[in-house]
Amino acid sequence: MIELLHGDFFDLYKDLPKGQVIITDPPFNAGKSFDNDNLTDDKWVEFCNNFSDCLKELHPVNVLCEISKKDVEMQKALDRNFTRKWIVVLNYTNSMRNGGVGYSNTGIVLYYGGKVFKRYKDRIDSACYNTIKEFSHPSPKQIIHYQKLCEMFCNKDLTIIDPFMGSGTTGIGAVNNCQNFIGIEKDDKYFEIAKNRIEKAQQDVAPKV
Ligand SMILES: C[S@@+](CC[C@H](N)C(=O)[O-])C[C@H]1O[C@@H](n2cnc3c(N)ncnc32)[C@H](O)[C@@H]1O
Repeated sequence: MIELLHGDFFDLYKDLPKGQVIITDPPFNAGKSFDNDNLTDDKWVEFCNNFSDCLKELHPVNVLCEISKKDVEMQKALDRNFTRKWIVVLNYTNSMRNGGVGYSNTGIVLYYGGKVFKRYKDRIDSACYNTIKEFSHPSPKQIIHYQKLCEMFCNKDLTIIDPFMGSGTTGIGAVNNCQNFIGIEKDDKYFEIAKNRIEKAQQDVAPKV
């Protein structure tokens, strides 16, 4: 089951199914050209707290949330409502900024939850590729990174929910793993991109006759 919702997470969350898995990459308030990424400090704290409170009402089995390396507010807001278990590092293997330890340029995913469904890893490696010829989004993530998160933290009976799906990366990961997915995106242009990319992934995984 794949369901794509065009709208604002804060308007739609009450109708989402309870007891599922949240895997998301929300705005970081880093000044990028999408909603909720250019907020004042106070508004940003309010956004993080609202998000955390809405998630709590959904009683998720697992929550995975990518945060900016500098940001503590999202972390604080989630820590208030959930028990943090671990951090998963998304490592960009071809980053020019890799240091001696090999992963100075990384994504950081906070893991709150009850269950790991596949063998646990705390670092997921993937080369970073430029998507600009394919589509235009200010902050697209790597499919392999999110596909692995979906595989590890959600089983096939549950549904992965991404409240801020952007160009649809989490959804493509879920489709590639044959998992259920609900994605929400507010922006008209990014919603269309996500829809087209996820539909293409569905065609690619469909059995050829
Ligand atoms: C960091 S991006 C997600 C990028 C995504 N992981 C990808 O790989 O393309 C965050 C997205 O959240 C969307 N967004 C911001 N506020 C929202 C809201 N209240 N409801 C739904 N989407 C929202 C933005 O338009 C943006 O596309």
